[in-house]
Amino acid sequence: MSRGYTVAVVGAGLVGERLVAELRRRDFPIEELRVLARTARRVEMAGETFDVGVAEPEAFEGVDYALFAGTEGEKGAAVQLAREAVARGAVVVDNGSDFRLDPEVPLVVPEVNAHDLEGHGGIIANPNCSTTQMVVPLAPLAREFGLKRVVVSTYQAVSGSGRSGVEALEEGREGVYPKPIAGNAIPQIGDIGEDGYSTEERKMKAESRKILGLPDLVVHPTTVRIPVHTGHAESVYVETERDVTLDEVLGLLGSAPGVTFSGAADAIPTPLEAAGDPGTHVGRVRVGERTVEYWCVADNLLKGAATNAVQIAEALAGARAAKARA
Ligand SMILES: NC(=O)c1ccc[n+]([C@@H]2O[C@H](COP(=O)([O-])OP(=O)(O)OC[C@H]3O[C@@H](n4cnc5c(N)ncnc54)[C@H](OP(=O)(O)O)[C@@H]3O)[C@@H](O)[C@H]2O)c1
Repeated sequence: MSRGYTVAVVGAGLVGERLVAELRRRDFPIEELRVLARTARRVEMAGETFDVGVAEPEAFEGVDYALFAGTEGEKGAAVQLAREAVARGAVVVDNGSDFRLDPEVPLVVPEVNAHDLEGHGGIIANPNCSTTQMVVPLAPLAREFGLKRVVVSTYQAVSGSGRSGVEALEEGREGVYPKPIAGNAIPQIGDIGEDGYSTEERKMKAESRKILGLPDLVVHPTTVRIPVHTGHAESVYVETERDVTLDEVLGLLGSAPGVTFSGAADAIPTPLEAAGDPGTHVGRVRVGERTVEYWCVADNLLKGAATNAVQIAEALAGARAAKARA
């Protein structure tokens, strides 16, 4: 009997490294782990040495799960290779934005909509980091009280832009952000569109609607890059359809899967505590008659990317094993 699956991690950047670390930490059953990128070389990732292979169609022969963390767009790994991997029998979990809004592709945060994995066509999308951490605490509020409107402001770390973002902060690399990031706060992530919203803000609107299954949900995001290495923070204001009480909200958040909450409404989780931790940390909880406000912080490279992707792979492997037993 096989001891596990053949898994490919595509991309040897910040997310690729966290994917390797999370696969190991969560003890995903692996027979063979391949790391693929644009160029072949030997690298240290998460305490292991890998002979990185070139990401090309043949590299996916025999792969059961391919976790993509390459760059996005037409020339990126997912657009070029995801369907090639699926054609060779792999199930793809993609960290980028290329497939997220494709109606045929489930966009999944396992604590919220694992049911959307059923009947997938071979590609599953991992949501944008700022969306993932917003919906983990939002989903139980949506179920219990109904949602009318969400207003969110983000405080996003530079590692959300990959290695180049970290270099912009630590080495003053130019051309990564529209203004210097050190000592600053930049209220633009991605390009600003004709509607006045940035790419990141449009992702938060569209992706949260898809994950929560609320296509008409009104979401008003403002996304801001700040000079923090890792850990995105968000201030979220929610208008509900039904009356809420503080006790109900504290109880819901205290038992919500994926939420790390001390139970104290005035808790002040920060990126320094969230970095390196897979949970979505919640604090500063306030309620009005039909409003809830909260602050949430999560590691953008973990729950915002690698942890969520590995959780999806675990759910897929669990379903596969259950089917084999039936
Ligand atoms: N950083 C975050 O917080 C975060 C959160 C959620 C989602 N994501 C998404 O995750 C992906 C990776 O982000 P990152 O932060 O890890 O970026 P990164 O640090 O810049 O690393 C990108 C990696 O992708 C590889 N790559 C690029 N094009 C490729 C191709 N055509 N084929 C194979 N490999 C290719 C690069 O290979 P080489 O090393 O050979 O150049 C590099 O190792 C992006 O789509 C990003 O949007 C990132």
